[in-house]
Amino acid sequence: MGSLDGRIAIVTGTSRGVGDGIAEELLREGATVVGCSRSPLDELPAAARVPGGRERSAQLVCDQGDYRAIDEFVGKVIDTYGRIDILVNNAGGTVPSPSVDAVPELVQRIQGSPRGTGDYERSVLFHAFAIQMNLVSPLWFAIRVCPEMRRGSGGSIVNISSGAGHPAGSPTLVSYGAAKSGLNHMTRSLAQEWGPDIRVNCLALGPTMTANFHDFVLPADDKDGARYFDKVPLKRAGRTEEVGRACVFLCSGQADYVNGTTIEIDGGMLPGVLYDAGLKTITDLL
Ligand SMILES: NC(=O)c1ccc[n+]([C@@H]2O[C@H](COP(=O)([O-])OP(=O)(O)OC[C@H]3O[C@@H](n4cnc5c(N)ncnc54)[C@H](OP(=O)(O)O)[C@@H]3O)[C@@H](O)[C@H]2O)c1
Repeated sequence: MGSLDGRIAIVTGTSRGVGDGIAEELLREGATVVGCSRSPLDELPAAARVPGGRERSAQLVCDQGDYRAIDEFVGKVIDTYGRIDILVNNAGGTVPSPSVDAVPELVQRIQGSPRGTGDYERSVLFHAFAIQMNLVSPLWFAIRVCPEMRRGSGGSIVNISSGAGHPAGSPTLVSYGAAKSGLNHMTRSLAQEWGPDIRVNCLALGPTMTANFHDFVLPADDKDGARYFDKVPLKRAGRTEEVGRACVFLCSGQADYVNGTTIEIDGGMLPGVLYDAGLKTITDLL
């Protein structure tokens, strides 16, 4: 018996990284998980690691930058499974940029934001993309899923945010931090609008170890992160399964009176302690 037996869950951004860990933990607790990413995959990557996971999962293509693609994706989930109980808005992210008005081509290439021809155009598109992916698209997903949850027996939405959204501010992550701060705020607003049918909560992550984090964020001369994580009280990155277990907690009936809140999963670090460390890899590449 799992705590999510029989639930139907959508998790965005499940081809790798944090979303892969979330999908795995939801599957382990018995949920059926439909994941998505822009790249086509034969199956949900987490399914292979969970007994019976392949029978309870699917991986579809959906670019969350396109609201029509979200509409089509959610429609397919309803056609196949009949309802949606859980939405985890995980897809998102950015890369640090040395200053808000100077987005080097390198940063744009790594993040995959729309191509611009001049410095100004590159910068504005980079920031618009960060806000689209980390704030607008999660809202689009939530709005599309809300009536489906209400048609069933209600539901639980979890938004994946970041410590960059802390009110202390986030130099080097200006648009991303603003978007994640907006996501925290949106979480509370939606919780107020959509209760009692739907609970909406948020997880604000600190550094969380993924393949991309290891390859593109940890400096080449500090790949075990000993220096990078020195200012984090727990002296390490979070693990994707730890984020997944927090999602299970919020969706499983263990947290039925938790609503509209943002829980920090960051090893207890203080705002700003990783700004210089986080930027080093990018500036080294320039
Ligand atoms: N890792 C960290 O240290 C950390 C810290 C704080 C917050 N977070 C948050 O955690 C979440 C996941 O981050 P991550 O580190 O796991 O990132 P990641 O390794 O880059 O993975 C992102 C996932 O989202 C998918 N994705 C990207 N753009 C998409 C789009 N337009 N439509 C649909 N899917 C899309 C990617 O697949 P495709 O590329 O194939 O589309 C991939 O599966 C993000 O919201 C991020 O802000 C992460």
